[in-house]
Amino acid sequence: MNGPFVLIGDPVPPPGITEIAALADLAWAFHRSFRHYAPTPLRRLDQFAHELGLASLLLKDESSRFGLNAFKGLGPSFAMHHWLATHEVADAAVFTTATDGNHGRAVAWMARQLGFRAVIFMPTYSVPARVAAIQNEGAKVVLVDEGYDAAVQLALNAAASHGWIVIQDIATDSYRDVPAWIGAGYWTMARELEPAVHGAERAEIDIVLLHAGVGTWPAAMVQYYWHRYGARRPRLVVVEPTDAACVLESVRAGAPTRATGSLRTIMAGLNCGYPSTTAFEVLRRSVDAFVAIPDLWAERAMRRLATPGPDEPVIVSGESGAASVAGLMALMQDPAYEAVRRHIGLGLDSRVLVWSTEGATDPAGWQRIVGRPVSP
Ligand SMILES: Cc1ncc(COP(=O)(O)O)c(C=O)c1O
Repeated sequence: MNGPFVLIGDPVPPPGITEIAALADLAWAFHRSFRHYAPTPLRRLDQFAHELGLASLLLKDESSRFGLNAFKGLGPSFAMHHWLATHEVADAAVFTTATDGNHGRAVAWMARQLGFRAVIFMPTYSVPARVAAIQNEGAKVVLVDEGYDAAVQLALNAAASHGWIVIQDIATDSYRDVPAWIGAGYWTMARELEPAVHGAERAEIDIVLLHAGVGTWPAAMVQYYWHRYGARRPRLVVVEPTDAACVLESVRAGAPTRATGSLRTIMAGLNCGYPSTTAFEVLRRSVDAFVAIPDLWAERAMRRLATPGPDEPVIVSGESGAASVAGLMALMQDPAYEAVRRHIGLGLDSRVLVWSTEGATDPAGWQRIVGRPVSP
């Protein structure tokens, strides 16, 4: 990889805003009527903001979402609901997807809620706890030797031969609807911050950090901010692991490109070789900065969130979940990112929003990094 960041001079509104906004209204109505739905908490981290040299720091903690330990359930829950609302589906239908963990668990869980079977494809190196969590949702797990991108292809092939329904969060030129519904489902996270943080006229934050795997989630949030605020949007930063910076490298190349890193980051949910094509088109010109960070920042972020200052809650955040906090720490503490800080005006006056998108989805890994068990 060639340098740890890309700065965008004059971001422009992304494509697809009108379409996703209309779908997101349906998703918002669906989620509020869904029996498992409850908003996730927003935390104020004053001491942490002070340590970093910021005016304020807000963190949305997604670990309690639907009891799935990650935000991902918002996408498949709406996408599968919407599939059933728009298609004839046989009782014996099977839902399938590929995953590094969180997305597949969400598909398996929602299939069970709806009374259908699920088959989930995962890389063989997946953490056993994440495989078990999916099996515990009643799904069949198929392990794939060649990694995440091959698991996606195998899920598509198996679906084509068996007539299964694919709920994948990556768009390709020939597969766009379901990823769009998943992105619309993610808008619920941003909607929950209205009006306290995402006021109608202006946002009570200046800078938002979002982390990317295939890019579907940050793209959905970027569309949200442009939709709600236009040019008055907060500045937007996309964070990725250096070992799997497929969005940053694709932006630099000007087209979806395979990440050149090892694809062995501890941020397993972000360990993706290629970006989603539609997410790439949304992100490429519509955020202020793309940043790649080494894994050690994820470890530092997990430890800091687990060890709060006075009046701050303990936040249990997994390796991928802590990535936007990790990105913020790197920006504030590593001189290598000085140009990014200047570009987005990040400093003493900044009010920053970050997301912890998962809890300890690998409890043994969390314990190794933080130095104590998740539940003492
Ligand atoms: C915990 C967590 N956060 C963020 C992401 C990034 O989402 P996306 O792949 O849509 O960019 C993922 C993806 O799996 C994830 O598991």
